[in-house]
Amino acid sequence: MSAAPAAYPAPMYPHKATEAQHREQRIRSFQPRRGRMTNAQADALDRLWEQHGLAIDGTPLDLPGLFGGLPVTLEIGFGMGETTAAMAAADPSTGILAADVHTPGHGNLLQFLERDGAQNVRLAAGDAVILVRDMLADASLAGLRIYFADPWPKPKHHKRRLVQPEFLALVLPRLAPGALVHCATDWEHYAEQMLDVLSASPELENLHPEGDGSPWLEPAERPAGSVPGYAPRPDWRPLTKFERAGLAKGHVVHDLLFRRR
Ligand SMILES: C[S@@+](CC[C@H](N)C(=O)[O-])C[C@H]1O[C@@H](n2cnc3c(N)ncnc32)[C@H](O)[C@@H]1O
Repeated sequence: MSAAPAAYPAPMYPHKATEAQHREQRIRSFQPRRGRMTNAQADALDRLWEQHGLAIDGTPLDLPGLFGGLPVTLEIGFGMGETTAAMAAADPSTGILAADVHTPGHGNLLQFLERDGAQNVRLAAGDAVILVRDMLADASLAGLRIYFADPWPKPKHHKRRLVQPEFLALVLPRLAPGALVHCATDWEHYAEQMLDVLSASPELENLHPEGDGSPWLEPAERPAGSVPGYAPRPDWRPLTKFERAGLAKGHVVHDLLFRRR
């Protein structure tokens, strides 16, 4: 793991990228956006950020200390946090390190955590690439979730997509042996890219090489649309906000489930 640059100041909430991060010449997978913050979200941030939040400022994290020794799954891009909160409540024995840049989403997730009394989630504010690169120890993650990452549909923007060989090279050492990598997307071209990138790594095993349609059937009997390499939708992944919007547009959703060898 690379040491944190000593020059990083510790930003207070609301999160602002540090000068050092601003100056980095990197292609980013998100578009900075001004979200309207509700009073309830702002109130949750004021009251609960210190307890549940941390800034992505380059400082190495002590995950066992932060999560009381629970195995930790990193979720990148939790959006408004409904799915994160539901999964945290369904499995309190897993810690979720939930990263996003979107301030109203932080407030929203904090509201859910308070409602549920959840103790197994920490929010990380900022670019998850820096979190992975500078702040996480090798083999510190028991899982990685990326649900409905920004699709960047125009070919000239494909370079902004998060799931790329370069990102995988950063994150793989942070995954402990056996760690589950779970991606889902409703953009066909991005799904193919994810499948290519993840399948190309000898350190990852596809848990569903047979495809997403009724894997217990003979290949010839599987329903049309079953594609080798994609996973059947796991029933423990709740529908997400962006997924709902994609389905309403007639998009097909693909899940991908891989395990770190
Ligand atoms: C399309 S939304 C999906 C949100 C949610 N997972 C869902 O399915 O409803 C993608 C989210 O990823 C976040 N994101 C994209 N790149 C990121 C990065 N490098 N670090 C942190 N968050 C990122 C965006 O801010 C956005 O909230």
